[in-house]
Amino acid sequence: MVALMKTSLDFSPQQRKLLYSWLLYAIGAAGIAGTLAFLVAMTRTPGVRILPSARAFQVILIAHVTFALTIWLLAFISTVWVWVAAQSGIALNRIGSWAGLITSLIGTIIISIPIALFQGEAVTTDYVPLLDTPLFFVGFVTFLIGVGITAATYLVGVARRDRAAGPLSLIAFGMACAAVAALVAVVSLGVAALRLGIGANGREPAQYYQSMFWGMGHSLQYVSVATMVVVWYALVGLFLGESRLNAKFAKAMLAIFALSPLASPIPYFLYDPITVPQRKAWGIALDSALSVPVMFLGPLLLVWVWRTRGEDVRAWLKRMPWGEPRVMTFVFSAILFAFGLTIHPAARQGTLRTPAHYHSVVVGGVTLAFMGLAYHMLSKLNRPVVWRRAAIAQPYLFALGLMGLVSGLLGAGDLGAPRKTYDAAVTGAAWLKPMIVMGGGAAIAALGGAMFVGIMAGSLLRRAESKRTVEIQKPAFVGSTGD
Ligand code: HEM
Repeated sequence: MVALMKTSLDFSPQQRKLLYSWLLYAIGAAGIAGTLAFLVAMTRTPGVRILPSARAFQVILIAHVTFALTIWLLAFISTVWVWVAAQSGIALNRIGSWAGLITSLIGTIIISIPIALFQGEAVTTDYVPLLDTPLFFVGFVTFLIGVGITAATYLVGVARRDRAAGPLSLIAFGMACAAVAALVAVVSLGVAALRLGIGANGREPAQYYQSMFWGMGHSLQYVSVATMVVVWYALVGLFLGESRLNAKFAKAMLAIFALSPLASPIPYFLYDPITVPQRKAWGIALDSALSVPVMFLGPLLLVWVWRTRGEDVRAWLKRMPWGEPRVMTFVFSAILFAFGLTIHPAARQGTLRTPAHYHSVVVGGVTLAFMGLAYHMLSKLNRPVVWRRAAIAQPYLFALGLMGLVSGLLGAGDLGAPRKTYDAAVTGAAWLKPMIVMGGGAAIAALGGAMFVGIMAGSLLRRAESKRTVEIQKPAFVGSTGD
């Protein structure tokens, strides 16, 4: 049987401080990312075109990806390491924990300088679109090292934990796999830098950076998806308690998240490093290996949920807490992730089908799941959710908006609308209608995102209450949770 979480572990003041700091930092990044997303989306919406020039569009697009894909996701993943460690009785080294947080924060500050000053040539490569200035690169690497320190601190904590406490819980094991993948990402970037040298030095910058970040980008996909699966299991475990799934099988699947990315530095040694992204077989192998554990762990989770339904499905559906944000974020996350998998961009390269695919997978799947756990973390920090009614509506608005955004991008992409293009917003008459749908969806998603950031910031910035008060505020259906 899978032991999901150790029960009723109270967090120490030190654990709470670390969790609070990471969470606040991640929420800050989400707020910036969301504002930038709104600007990008409103510029691509026909008739709105909020940004005045192609240059402004490119810089803001790069800033959006930096804060959304890199900083928000990895800062929240680091928050999950801290939460799972405290939840599972894993002691984190104090110096390592704080060094990881402070280093990441310094990286974020450095990276923000060229963005705020609009410095450097915009290179809109995959994985890490960037402003080609030394500060951006240094900031990015510093941020990533901070995440690497946090991942390493978690793994050391796992290795040193008291074996008498029993086997590692599923979520603790899953986050260990994510930590291994994160360290492989750091190593991949180091290997790429060694093999390619620092600076494009006459080479085409887009090609140079695409090669530089290829291995790291693939490994980070494993980190995000592994953490999303862990968060799914944690959220479902909150409501259903102990699962009756086969722990050995689930752990074997999770281990794929740690083992597969080990291949990502290899191509830099086998070929001319600048040609690595063109070695399609490696990319396809890494993508395919990423989908294997999800294909098993996703349905397995749904089996677990379904098994709890009892005889009367209608009554069960009625009893479902449709107004509970932690449940609804999970439900929408699973739907949007599954949909995103079915619209893989290979069908129409270079079109808006690509952002349709990963906004469904990464924003719909990963971010919605993270939002659910973020709400839950508040209880561990003795802070009740402020604006509870808004919190009930928030996952619905965000998911509905995303569905509009994704279907608009998909429809326009299938008509051939190019990605990352300023002028195509107006000139592409053929995809006018889907782009209007995209803009409407983006506006609703931005509202849902802003509500999440507002609710989280409002709750975190309030004074902590005594534990007793928070317990009373728990909804009635949270009965036999693993919490
Ligand atoms: C975690 C959250 C998010 C992540 C990781 C993310 C990631 C990205 C990435 C990587 C791109 C680059 C486009 C490309 O490579 O083709 C992008 C572009 C874009 N994003 Fe997001 N995004 C997030 C949230 C959002 C939200 C909430 C919205 C809408 C409100 C949004 C709207 C857009 C739009 C319209 C583009 C431009 C597409 C194009 O012109 O190619 N994003 N995003």
